[in-house]
Amino acid sequence: MKKRVLITNLIPETAYQKLSRRFQVVWNKKQFSETQLAAKIKPFHAVLTTLADPMTAKVLSSAPNLQCVANFAVGFNNIDLQTAKSRGIQVTNTPDVLTEATADIAWALILSCARRVPEGEKLVRTTGFKGWGALFLLGQDLFGKTLGIYGFGRIGKAVAWRGRGWNMPILYHQRHRESLAVEKRYNAKYVSFETLLKRSDILSVNSPLTPETKYRFTSKEFKQMKPKSIFINASRGLIHREADLVKALQTKTIFSAGLDVYEHEPKINPTLLKLSNCTLMPHLGSATLETRTKMALLAAENIELVLTGRKPKTPVIK
Ligand code: DGY
Repeated sequence: MKKRVLITNLIPETAYQKLSRRFQVVWNKKQFSETQLAAKIKPFHAVLTTLADPMTAKVLSSAPNLQCVANFAVGFNNIDLQTAKSRGIQVTNTPDVLTEATADIAWALILSCARRVPEGEKLVRTTGFKGWGALFLLGQDLFGKTLGIYGFGRIGKAVAWRGRGWNMPILYHQRHRESLAVEKRYNAKYVSFETLLKRSDILSVNSPLTPETKYRFTSKEFKQMKPKSIFINASRGLIHREADLVKALQTKTIFSAGLDVYEHEPKINPTLLKLSNCTLMPHLGSATLETRTKMALLAAENIELVLTGRKPKTPVIK
């Protein structure tokens, strides 16, 4: 009998096509709640999930046959890894294939914040553009500014790499220091968290969400940043405290913020929506057709490997 695979959400069809060749696949195209997932998952041997699926202990314990959870994302904070491990369930993610697209979104936010793109756009559309002015909507130069990266993994490095075009010195902070060769390649200097806050003109969050990084950026940290600095988060919203960021923007403690992610996604702090010194995107980090297709194929490949007794290509638990 064919093994059974559940695809929990709407994703590029290539994954469904690939998996259907070998397995019996059920493709759900609407978001499941935790209770719905727990009720549906029982007969499946593998599940292809997205970051919006709560793969909690309750859900994982409802699936006695489950061998693999293949997350359609590089982040996997939606999955209870401990429970998965204790039940012998392989967990996989989709690193590498989305690195460049996600770094592009971070840069879209950087440029937008520095040059006040949303404010200008809104003015033009609401006929507020009355003609060129020497002091009209002044932004900030980016060339030669210091780019700080919190979390110097694949995406953090790709964000830093793009900084070469703007001749930016790079500062980074994470748990471990990279090799000298890596630092040289990216023109990057390892600094303490405090130094990162104090010296960055642009501070880009690119770390995964972990107990250690949760609420790493609160009022205390925003107060240590330069008044002209730009805060970017295209990683996970829970890494900054949204109410504190709102306060920092309202009081001009920092210049601007560019966000692709939110603390209680998809809910957004209503005051944040009213502020003009921020650029807000609806979690589009990996949202290009090419990248999402590669993510779908990689997730499907991981499932195929696990269900045929082989090692997945990109396991989360090594
Ligand atoms: C990820 O893969 O974790 C991204 O946030 C998806 O866009």
